[in-house]
Order: sequence, then structure tokens, then C-alpha cells
Amino acid sequence: MKILAIESSCDEFSISIIEDGKILTNTISSQISDHTEFGGVIPELAARLHVQNINWVIENALLESNISLESIDKIAYTALPGLIGSLIIGKTVAETIALYLNKPLIPLHHIEGHIFGASIENEFIYPVMAMVVSGGHTQIELVNSPNDFMIIGSTTDDAIGECYDKVARVIGLGYPGGPKIDKLATLGDENKYKLPLPKNDSSYDFSYSGLKTAAINLIHNLNQKNEELNINDFCASFQKTATETIRKKLEKAVEEFKPNTLTIAGGVSANTSIRKMIFEIGAKYNIKNTFVPKMEYCTDNAAMIAKLAYEKEMENG
Ligand code: KG4
Ligand code: ZN
Repeated sequence: MKILAIESSCDEFSISIIEDGKILTNTISSQISDHTEFGGVIPELAARLHVQNINWVIENALLESNISLESIDKIAYTALPGLIGSLIIGKTVAETIALYLNKPLIPLHHIEGHIFGASIENEFIYPVMAMVVSGGHTQIELVNSPNDFMIIGSTTDDAIGECYDKVARVIGLGYPGGPKIDKLATLGDENKYKLPLPKNDSSYDFSYSGLKTAAINLIHNLNQKNEELNINDFCASFQKTATETIRKKLEKAVEEFKPNTLTIAGGVSANTSIRKMIFEIGAKYNIKNTFVPKMEYCTDNAAMIAKLAYEKEMENG
């Protein structure tokens, strides 16, 4: 069975083709450089650039996988959540191909796709606990099957990636700030600046708007006193605080739900501290099936949507 999958929820337009569980192509047109000058993703621009990229992405995906469009059995696409203009373009392309081929459509959830991105190169042994960290989401999910996702805890305001990006903008690192803070954090002293630990309570929920405000206030206070901010130390201190809550809550969830697989998903799972932390927690609680997705499958990509579609088809028969 061959499934063609489309991911277009934000600023990537991507097509993947999966054949019997094997990814044949994961063609991605990224717009990061187009949005950098604006300091973040401009929804209108994202949708317009998707329109420009549709043709070459389809052509490249078919060329790379060496198959004809006519041999596709099903068409999957990201239905939600995401930027509405971007989502509509992916849905329209999916519906057009489905209509032309007279083949069924599979509408899927972006975050569930991110989680299954982790299963492309590693096998899921259920239940799976996934720490989802992206520009729009921060949540702990327990997955019992490709059709059974349970959200254990979630952010009550900003997502972790959003917090990284906004703080990075204030210190002039530009968009996307997450990878830049992560890189500089390795060079600094994580104990130099004190920031409050977000939502340091017994719940499974997260809050990153408080950390964002505290970080920005710290920068402004130093500015007012004409004291220089050490960027590397600040990045290290910020990263330590931003990731420590995740460790605390994830450990608690692991103790309570006893998963057989531990993994991470979403764009922020490219973060070096979080990747390291997952293995530390896996070792501490003896979860042998602990792994992190390869970078290509962390940020938005259609291979994760293709893999989720395939696993659902297998499960549903
Ligand atoms: O999943 P994703 O590609 O898009 C959404 O669906 O949100 O995630 C993008 C987010 C951005 O906020 C970006 O700054 C963040 O992932 N990110 C990182 C790192 N790499 C990407 N954040 C922290 N450390 C990183 N290494
Ligand atoms: Zn995403």
C-alpha cells in the first residue's frame, strides 16, 4: 500500500510517500529564511509561498520515490491544528489528488503526526509516553494505539518554542530563536541568572508565559542599570529553567503511567538539553525503549503524517 501525505500547517510545505511502512521520500520546502526578516511566521506570506511551492514539491516527491501518482492508494493530510491559510492549501491539494485518482482521503492531527515521527526509525511498544514540545504545543501524551491518544498535561498559556522564540527576539538573536539559544547555552554558565521555574506545582500542566516575562524583565532591569548581559550565560540559565519543569513533570508521569516507550516529538525536540534529559529519565526508570527522533523528523515534515496514516491503516485493517 502506498500513501501520499501532505503537511502544510505552518511554514513548511512537505510531501512524503510511504510504501508498506517505508518512507520513500520526505520532500520539504522550508520558508524559514523568508520569515526571518519579520521575526516570526507571517501567516499570509506562509500561505502564498505554499502556493508557489506545490508543483516542485509534488514533482520532487514522485521523482525521488520513483513511482507514478496513479499508483497511490490513499492521500493523508494535516487537517488541524495550524494556520488556517496554510491548512486550506494542504487540504485542497489533498482533495484535488484524491478526486483525480478517485482514492480515499485521511485527515490527520498535526501533533499526533509529530508523535509518530518518532516511530519512523524506532518501534513503538505501547503504551508510549511522548513529550510534545513545539512552537505551538507543550504537552505530555500517553499513546495506547495509533487511534488512542490521551493528553495527560498541557500548557495553559505559551508553548515552550514560542517562549524560546520571543525571548531570543528580545536579545537580538532573530527567528527562529530556539536553535540559537540552544547553541549559545552550551557555552554559558547555567547558574549565572536566576529565573523562576514555570508552574512548579504537582499538576501535569505547563506555563511558559511567566518565564518569558521574567526573562524579558531581567534583560530590561540590567539594561536600566547599564549592566551588560552575558548572552551565553543568559541562554544557559534560560535553557536550564525552561527544561527543568519538563524533567520534573515527565518523571512524575512516568512513575504514574509506567510507559513501555519514552520519546519526544515536535520542533523543540531538536533541543540538546531535552534530548539528553529523555535518555536520563529512560535510564533512571529502566525504560529500555527510549529514543529521540532524528532531526529531520523533529521539525514539521510530511513523513510523520505518512507514518501516522500507515499505522492507523494497519490498526484499522
Ligand atoms: O514543530 P515545529 O517545527 O513547528 C510547530 O508546529 O510549532 O517547531 C518549531 C519550534 C520553534 O519555536 C523553534 O524555535 C523551536 O521549534 N526549535 C527549538 C530548537 N529547534 C527548533 N527550540 C529549542 N531548541 C532547539 N534546538
Ligand atoms: Zn509542528
